[in-house]
Amino acid sequence: MGKVSKLKLAVLISGGGSNLQAIIDACNAADYPAEIVLVFSNQLDAGGLERGRKAGIRAEAIPHKGFPGGREAYDAAVSTLIEESGADLVVLAGYLRLVSESFVTRWKDRLINIHPSLLPSFKGLHVHQAALDAGVKFAGCTVHYVVPEVDSGPIIAQAVVPVLPGDDAGKLAQRILKQEHRIYPQVIRWIAEGRVSVNDKGIVTVADAPQADFAEINPALEPG
Ligand code: GRF
Repeated sequence: MGKVSKLKLAVLISGGGSNLQAIIDACNAADYPAEIVLVFSNQLDAGGLERGRKAGIRAEAIPHKGFPGGREAYDAAVSTLIEESGADLVVLAGYLRLVSESFVTRWKDRLINIHPSLLPSFKGLHVHQAALDAGVKFAGCTVHYVVPEVDSGPIIAQAVVPVLPGDDAGKLAQRILKQEHRIYPQVIRWIAEGRVSVNDKGIVTVADAPQADFAEINPALEPG
């Protein structure tokens, strides 16, 4: 039987790379339609680089600090690496660096990000604390296509979790992170299967995806 070609991923990280790990784990299943061809970091000491190497994946870092020529030049170097890797899709997974408009244009429709809030609420940094400070009763995470405006762009999938009494930013982050690890590999699968489309209003549909069917109240209703 001929080998079916898989969608090639470049995963960009800055930190521990738990989302990267979730994607590596998904890719280990023989029937998963994607494979990672490059792990890239702007931080030499990003823990995720080791996760990549352990999995036998090419892992490279270029420190952004002191890179000559500024953001555009840096992003051009990153684009070159990605191009050389043959990646079809660029996956930002805790890449804590704003990407330039030319980078976004270069990878248009082939660049996705995960953000730990229910966008369009709580863009930017420190989003778990911002959600706690706002007193929202649900929080969550969003996978979206990247556009030049930060934490915007067509939303592909979201996961929701409750905010619980006694939460601090760390506890809430952990609860959300668990869901990030579920939705990111799923979204990549949908893209690899060619099931994700975006209309001219920026609304995404996933062909034949089972639709969530629930309503939740938090704090929950009491019986009776
Ligand atoms: C995640 O919460 C992700 O949503 C955010 O940065 C964090 C990265 O975590 N953009 P990890 O490096 O994948 O563990």
